[in-house]
Amino acid sequence: MKKINYRKCRRKDLIPAARMIGISMNYLRRQSGMEPYPWRVREIPPLFNHLLKTDPDLTYCAWDGERLVGFGSALVRGKQWYLGHLFVLPRYQDNGVGRKLLEKVWADKPGMTHALCTFAFNMQAVGIYSKFGMTPLCDLPWMHGDPAKMKKLGSTGLKIIDTPTRADYKWLNELETKIRGYPHALEWKLWQKSEKHKVYIFTSRGKRIGYCQIVDKRMIAPLGVISKRYMTKVMTEAIRLAKPKKDGKINLWCPTLNIELYQFLIGIGFRADEMEIFMSDEPYPDWQRYVPATLAVV
Ligand SMILES: CC(C)(COP(=O)(O)OP(=O)(O)OC[C@H]1O[C@@H](n2cnc3c(N)ncnc32)[C@H](O)[C@@H]1OP(=O)(O)O)[C@@H](O)C(=O)NCCC(=O)NCCS
Repeated sequence: MKKINYRKCRRKDLIPAARMIGISMNYLRRQSGMEPYPWRVREIPPLFNHLLKTDPDLTYCAWDGERLVGFGSALVRGKQWYLGHLFVLPRYQDNGVGRKLLEKVWADKPGMTHALCTFAFNMQAVGIYSKFGMTPLCDLPWMHGDPAKMKKLGSTGLKIIDTPTRADYKWLNELETKIRGYPHALEWKLWQKSEKHKVYIFTSRGKRIGYCQIVDKRMIAPLGVISKRYMTKVMTEAIRLAKPKKDGKINLWCPTLNIELYQFLIGIGFRADEMEIFMSDEPYPDWQRYVPATLAVV
């Protein structure tokens, strides 16, 4: 193989990077007998732009001459290092490009944990991350519920705040420190600017007990509660609040370590479509109280 160059990513590289990810991911999906994603990139995905701004030293591209053949991006939030993306063009795989990109975006200091989510159907990815000290810790099936076929859910009696205040966000970030392991206020600031992201806070007897974000009226990600006894109630309300367009489905990644939640979702008619996994060198978050955000940030 020709010499591959590794350079920090620039804003203008993000569209070619996002297109390359589509090719790499859909090649993997076809190889694994799965439907390809409809992946069209007309503009820079907001999350890519955000991660390049927040972590400019941890976003790298691999180049074969003028051709972008690999992309890696990571984020550091406090002592949490997290891998957002790692993709290599199929023709360039198995030649050490992924490993080199991972080394470039790696960060470490005393007490720092390292984690990511990846496709359970790609053992090569699981393998490379395992060599960096991370272990598969929790399955995250991507699930869908069809509102037309699901059991109807009644109100739980929780009160819903649909326009959270600054004090609500402060509470949410404090809660995420406990249940997610680390707060990620920077991502909440990004999502707050987006019309597609809607946040709800739930209260019981005047006390905040949980929150959820609904993306595009259909995806519940993330969701958190102060105590596991509220998980089913808050999930019930989140499902009631999601309003996918006609024939659309409600989606989420359910941590299988939360047996009660997984069985609740299956019981009301959710189905598991495919499996992703959380890998880490430290066991976090508290999956009894946390349902992840988009897996590029968890
Ligand atoms: C996963 C991916 C990024 C890896 O990049 P790559 O350039 O192909 O990988 P590399 O050649 O750098 O390294 C692969 C490593 O995994 C190891 N490996 C492969 N299969 C393995 C297995 N089943 N178990 C353990 N290790 C395995 C290899 O031995 C190698 O490690 P080494 O360098 O120490 O020998 C790339 O294959 C890809 O883009 N795949 C499709 C998309 C994807 O799954 N991305 C991950 C999303 S989080």
